[in-house]
Amino acid sequence: MQKRSMQQKELFLADDSSTEQLGLALAKSLDMPCVIYLQGELGAGKTTLVRGLLRGLGHLGSTKSPTYTLVEPYQLADLAVYHFDLYRLADPEELEFIGIREYQEQNALLIFEWPDKGLGMIPAADLELKLSYFEAGRKVQITDFNAKLPNHWNFDDILCQNDD
Ligand SMILES: Nc1ncnc2c1ncn2[C@@H]1O[C@H](COP(=O)(O)OP(=O)(O)OP(=O)(O)O)[C@@H](O)[C@H]1O
Ligand SMILES: [Mg+2]
Repeated sequence: MQKRSMQQKELFLADDSSTEQLGLALAKSLDMPCVIYLQGELGAGKTTLVRGLLRGLGHLGSTKSPTYTLVEPYQLADLAVYHFDLYRLADPEELEFIGIREYQEQNALLIFEWPDKGLGMIPAADLELKLSYFEAGRKVQITDFNAKLPNHWNFDDILCQNDD
């Protein structure tokens, strides 16, 4: 089978609800299992995006930021989701103690905030989202390394619908 080339796109997210909508749209389109890296400085909108992703996957409760716990697990209908925030990780080796290898073996969605802090210990990204401050909102650059999104995937339309 012919593998299509890496897909990349950039979007403007005008407000926090656009960031959440993007997460929702990703949840509906992503091929699982999947490893997502969320890049971006403090307050760039990474956890907001995870909130949308989890909602899109059917999670009804709140989304806690795992800043102190390193990982927050969610067991959804037919998928396990692990939301990591490695900001406070002093050494990637610490991930050994929380059983990072076992997480990788599952049919799951693994999401990493601050993935650079865990490099060498965490699985490679299938999808990378780089969030950055832009005007009053954010910009996001999406790179799909392993064809986890459909061809010609487009959510510009979705993002225009959230002014109700
Ligand atoms: N597109 C956007 N435009 C403006 N504000 C946004 C946007 N997306 C998210 N925000 C806001 O930015 C703030 C920080 O968001 P969030 O906590 O998701 O960032 P983070 O990248 O997870 O930060 P940290 O690195 O501290 O974990 C929140 O108040 C959120 O509502
Ligand atoms: Mg966060």
